[in-house]
Parts: sequence; C-alpha cells; structure tokens
Amino acid sequence: MTDPASAGAARARRQDDLLIVVVDHPPVNALSADVRRGLAEAIAQAGVDPQVRAVVLAGAGANFIAGADIREFGKPPRPPALPDVCNAIENCPKPVVAALHGAALGGGLEVAMAAHYRVALPDARLGLPEVNLGLLPGAGGTQRAPRLMGAAAALDLMLSGAPITAAGALASGLVDRVAEGGDALAAGLAYARELLDQGAGPRRSRDAQGLADKTAARAALAESGERAARARGLYSPLRIVEAVRAAVELPFDEGLATERSLFLQCLDSPQRAALVHAFFAERGTTRVPELKQARPRPLGRVGVVGGGTMGAGITVALLDAGLSAVMIEQDEAALARGLARVRDVYDQAVRKGRLSAAQREERMARHAGALDYAALADADLIIEAVFEDMEVKRAVFAELDRVARPGAVLATNTSYLDVDCIAQATSRPADVLGLHFFSPAHIMKLLEIVVGRATAADTVATGFELARRLRKIPVRAGVCDGFIGNRILAVHRQAADMMMQDGASPYEIDAAVRAFGYPMGPYQMTDMAGGDIGWATRKRRAATRDPAIRYVEIADRICERGWFGQKTGRGFYRYEAGSRQGRPDPEVLEIVDAERRRAGVTPRAFSEGEIQRRYLAAMINEAANVLEEGIADKPADVDAVFLHGYGFPRYRGGPLFYADTVGPARILEDIRAWRNEDPAFWKPSALLVRLAESGRDFASLNTAQP
Ligand code: 3HC
Ligand code: NAI
Repeated sequence: MTDPASAGAARARRQDDLLIVVVDHPPVNALSADVRRGLAEAIAQAGVDPQVRAVVLAGAGANFIAGADIREFGKPPRPPALPDVCNAIENCPKPVVAALHGAALGGGLEVAMAAHYRVALPDARLGLPEVNLGLLPGAGGTQRAPRLMGAAAALDLMLSGAPITAAGALASGLVDRVAEGGDALAAGLAYARELLDQGAGPRRSRDAQGLADKTAARAALAESGERAARARGLYSPLRIVEAVRAAVELPFDEGLATERSLFLQCLDSPQRAALVHAFFAERGTTRVPELKQARPRPLGRVGVVGGGTMGAGITVALLDAGLSAVMIEQDEAALARGLARVRDVYDQAVRKGRLSAAQREERMARHAGALDYAALADADLIIEAVFEDMEVKRAVFAELDRVARPGAVLATNTSYLDVDCIAQATSRPADVLGLHFFSPAHIMKLLEIVVGRATAADTVATGFELARRLRKIPVRAGVCDGFIGNRILAVHRQAADMMMQDGASPYEIDAAVRAFGYPMGPYQMTDMAGGDIGWATRKRRAATRDPAIRYVEIADRICERGWFGQKTGRGFYRYEAGSRQGRPDPEVLEIVDAERRRAGVTPRAFSEGEIQRRYLAAMINEAANVLEEGIADKPADVDAVFLHGYGFPRYRGGPLFYADTVGPARILEDIRAWRNEDPAFWKPSALLVRLAESGRDFASLNTAQP
C-alpha cells in the first residue's frame, strides 16, 4: 500500500494511486531547504511513477505552510530555489491538489497556487504577507495570484499583507472549495479522488483567465500604484505593483523573470533586513529568565483601580480578551465617569460596525464597578492606574495589601515612579510588579513588564501571561525613572528642545522626524497627547532636575497661555475647530524667538540631516545606558519598545538596529564632537564606547540568551 520515498521535513507516501506529500517542519512548516528538497523529490517521483495518478499536498500540525524560512534570508541560497519547486509542481503531469488549513502564507500560498487544485478547511488563513517583511511574493505569487483572482483582489492581498479567510478565498477564486471541517489531508484526498473519477487532469494557474479583462486589470494597477506610492517610505509596495504589471502585460515566463529580479532587489534592501529584525525582535521579547523558572499564577478576575484614561483603556483590553474586570474609583461621580468611558469605547465600536450590540453587552456584562476595595477580595490580579503621585499610589497599595487574597498579583501602571518604593507599601513585595500600558491601552501593543527588586519569578510570569492573553508585546524592564521607553524618550525630547532653542523651529524638527519615517514629530505628539501632561511632570520634577542639563522653557511658555494642543485648539500648532491637522503658528515662533533671546542664544540653521542625527544619537546613547544598567535585557527589546510604543518606523528596525546600520563608531564620533558644546548632555555611554572601540555592534548583544 505505502511506499516511503522521502523522509524528514516533507514526506511522501503512496496510498493506492495517490501520492501524499506532507510537510512536517515544526513550528510552522516554513519552507527550509530540506522542505523544498523534499517537495521537489516528491513531485519528481510523482512524475515518473506510473502507479501515481494524482498528488495531494498537505501540512502537518496547525498549519499548511507559513512561508519561506525567514531565517534563511540574507544567507547564501541553498538549492532547490522555491520558484523552481513551484514551477515543478505546476508542470507535474499528474493533477496536484493542495489541502490547506491554518496558515497558508507567503511561499506557502505560492506552493498552493502552483498546485492545480485547492481545497481549504474553514480555519485556513491565506495571505501574501511578504510586504510586511519588505519583500514581494517571489515564487510566482505575483504572476499566479492575479491570474487566479484578478488583479484588484491580488494586489489587495499583496499590498495589505493581511490574510483572507477560506470563505473569502473561495469567493475570489483563490481556492476551489471549502471543506466542511475535519482533517485537511482527508479533504484533499477526497477531492483528488473526485477529480480522478471525473477524469480531470492538471490545470495550471498560469493558464487561468483572471487577467483576461485588461481594462479592469490596468485600472486596478493604476489605483494600486497610487496606494503604493502613499505607503510612506516603503520600498516593496511599488515593486509589487511593477511585478503585477508584468503579469498583466507580459507572457507568464517573462513575468516570472521580472518578479525574480524585483524580489532580489527587495531581498537586498536594508528595509528587508530591518523588517525581518522587527519580526524576530517582537517574538524574542518573551525570552526572559523568569519564564524558564516559573509558571504564571491564575488569571481570571482582574481588578483595576482608577477609571481615568488608562484605567478605562486597560479595562477594555481585559474585557476584549475575555477576562472579567472590576473597576474601583474614589467616589460615585468618578466611578460613573470611569464606567462611561468603557461603555463609550464599545458604543463607538458598535457605531463603526466593528462590534455587534450583542458582543458589546456580553463584554459589558463582565464589567463591574465599586467604591469599596472589598470588591477586589477575589481578584487574581489588580492593576492600579490612579494619579501619578507616589503618596497616592502607596496609599492604594497599602489598601490592596489589606484586601487582596494571598497570591494575588498587584501591579502598577505608573509611567515613571519607583516600583520598589510602591511595593514596600505592602507586606508582599514579591507579588508586586509594574505593568506599564501605553495609551490608548486597548490599542497599543506594547506592555512593559517592570520587574522590581523583590518581584517573584511567578509574578513576572503572570505579567507575561497577561500580555499573551491581551495579544500584547511584553518587554521586560528594570526599575528606573521611566523604565525603558519613557526614560529614553525624555532624553531625545531634550535633544529636540535644545535644537529648538538653538535655532531649529518646532516645525522643522517635526518635519525632519517625519522624514525619518515617524508618523508625526515630537511637537505634534505633544499637541496630540496634551501639553499639560508633560508640563505637570516638569513642574513636579523642577526641584530634582539636574542643574547641569540645560532646561528649555519654550514648552512652559506655551502651556502658560493655556495652549495644550489639539484639545484647546492651540499648542505648538493651531487647529481649526474639530481638526487634528495643525498649521504652524507665527505666535509660537515669536515665543521661541523670545526664549532664545532670554537665554542669550544666537540662533543658527539646522539641516534636516543634522536634526535627525542629533535626535537619533540622543536616543541611541540613552538606550545604551539602559542596556548597560540592565534596565533592558537586550538591544532587540529596546527596538520592540520603540516600534510598538513610540511609532519608530518599522522599516528601520528600531533605534538599535538602526544604530548598527550607521555604525556605533560613527555615532560615538558625533557625540564626542557635540560634547564640546554641551558636556553635561552629550556624555557617551560606556557601552557605546566599548562597542565602538572593539568594532562590535548592538546585534552582537542580542544573541546572549538568558
Ligand atoms: N520562517 C521561520 N520561522 C518562522 C516563520 C517563518 N516563515 N514563521 C514563524 N516562524 C517562527 C517564529 O519565529 C516562532 O519562533 P520561536 O518560537 O523561536 O519564537 C515560531 O515560528 C512560531 O511563530 P509565532 O510565534 O508567530 O506563532 P503564531 O502561531 O502566533 O503565528 C504564523 C504563526 C501566523 C505563521 C506567524 O508566525 C507568521 O505570520 N509567520 C510569518 C509568515 C510570513 O511572513 N510568511 C511569508 C514569509 S516570506 C516568503 O514567503 C517569501 C516568498 O514569497 C518567497
Ligand atoms: P487620569 O487622571 O485620567 O485617571 C486617574 C484616575 O484615578 C482618576 O479617575 C481618579 O479619580 C482615580 N483615582 C485617583 N485616586 C484614586 C484612588 N485612591 N482610588 C481609586 N481611584 C483613584 O490618569 P491616567 O492618565 O489614566 O493615568 C493613570 C496612571 O497611568 C498614572 O500613573 C500615569 O502615569 C499612568 N500612565 C498614563 C499614560 C497616559 O498616556 N495617560 C500612559 C501610561 C501610564
């Protein structure tokens, strides 16, 4: 009955007159060299074995095939190449059926498109996410997808990078049928048997007619060309459009050659390297010692103390993840406001059609409010999000210590304050940690897990488990003023303020930061968040500020006028009623000028490049300090923080990946030059000096495993 042909990552066995090829390469069946070889051998065998009348391709485990093996990018290529494997599948003289379940992504979907027939289980997710990695589908996907589903749908799949469901794939012609459920292989076998019974032969996607209507295809290209041009700073979208243009205008084989050449350009681009780094950086943040030492404590009922901006956002995140949450506020009015904030988020989601009314009610039913801390007695985890004031927070924690059950995890969402000092307000500092969410907390992906001196390993593990449940990216941080993100932010904001005082306008600085790839500059960001927040922090810290560091007062002068940004219609920019689009304000420039005069500064010009260099160098130098002090475990964690909490352009990989592309030595050279003008601010980090002087880079510190 069976006839083992190839062992290992892609196994072939014959069952009657069908050759079954199963890709079995955990964790996600990525197309490593072994898998490619196994597939090529199996197809070759099918071609010559007279007993084989059809082939069924399937994946073992949870997925069909998740794509090319991302770890192989940038390394010397190992044969057989994936496009050749796909062409061999398409040219197989016997019908090939791909049976899809779970992820059929990138090269995995290209393998499926090279097959002659496709059946998907309802759970299948089909996509061409290469754009997220700075690439384009490079194994025939740009040529076969438009022929199967038409140019418009194929371009959307490739430019969005978002997967579609089995039902969507059926509707667009990407798959031939959706099986009822059950086992993908069984569905593939049944389909192959039916095809043989009907006398069906190979049916090549290269011959499919999705591009027959050239007018429609060209219209889709024109529309997508505009969309790709709008994809800020990204390299691969325009090339995706070019590859599909070749599919529309050229014969199939010439189109494949065009795709190959565009793919190789993308593969060699710095953006590809940065985006692949980002992919692994965000998955590597869970490599922390505590997760090896301990298991998480239970997480079911969560308490949230404080129903302001953050408390409400955190509550929504908890409810969205299926947890139940009780909110504690200080008085009836504040509680009513807190509950209303949560309801508002859901009402808006229902209005926008993102949630059904029934889903809203189901989520709200898991939410309760209380004034009495006794309501927290059975909570597994309590997250404090009250005012940023040490005495208020310590009083809350003393109360939590009194009411919480033994073993409950007590977390603070403080932005800057000393988590150890907060923990000491309790009799159980081992149960205390920081869970630093970012605003809006139900949307932003980053969660800093702040580990105090006494925090127990299973408390930390519970923080990571919460992040997993909330689908957030957890980054382990040590205790210091501002942890990883806000501490580094404060320093490069200071660099920006100093440039503003020395001659760059806030608008030039914002423009330079945007030109680097951020969605907005630091002063636009201030206006969006509300200038009053930073002003309050500055006032609170006035007494403890390092007198050696230049203090730029421009933002204070703006706040003193009540100009807090978008919400007051004025800040660094002026806003028309209801608009978030600010325009430069000559009165702000007058304030800036006056402050320069008061500080005795003769303004000078700053080029866009210099603004970027100083802004980034300040960020990188402080990031090096954060690593040196063990506040962050590894450079990739700092990158994950800035990518997911601060809008750092993903195609630049994060500040420390970017630092390596510039070179630590060059950054150090700049900082040493600027030290002459301001020795208190431009102090080279000891780590940066060590890396520069030993010719190493930040990436060399990523490989050290805990
Ligand atoms: N290559 C190598 N490793 C991969 C991989 C890939 N394509 N996809 C995932 N992995 C690894 C992850 O790094 C992770 O490793 P770790 O356990 O050591 O951290 C492990 O597989 C599990 O991944 P996730 O944690 O992401 O698991 P999930 O179950 O949450 O998600 C997934 C699974 C949806 C498949 C998700 O991993 C994913 O989206 N992967 C990337 C898919 C992709 O981008 N494919 C296109 C690749 S480019 C291409 O195909 C080019 C071609 O056109 C020539
Ligand atoms: P907020 O002022 O909007 O809300 C604070 C809430 O706490 C108020 O509703 C207040 O009534 C309540 N409160 C005060 N004392 C209380 C007590 N003893 N018991 C119960 N409730 C009490 O403040 P916001 O912005 O939500 O910040 C909360 C915390 O989150 C602060 O520590 C802040 O630093 C931190 N944070 C804020 C971020 C932001 O962007 N706003 C981002 C990340 C962290």
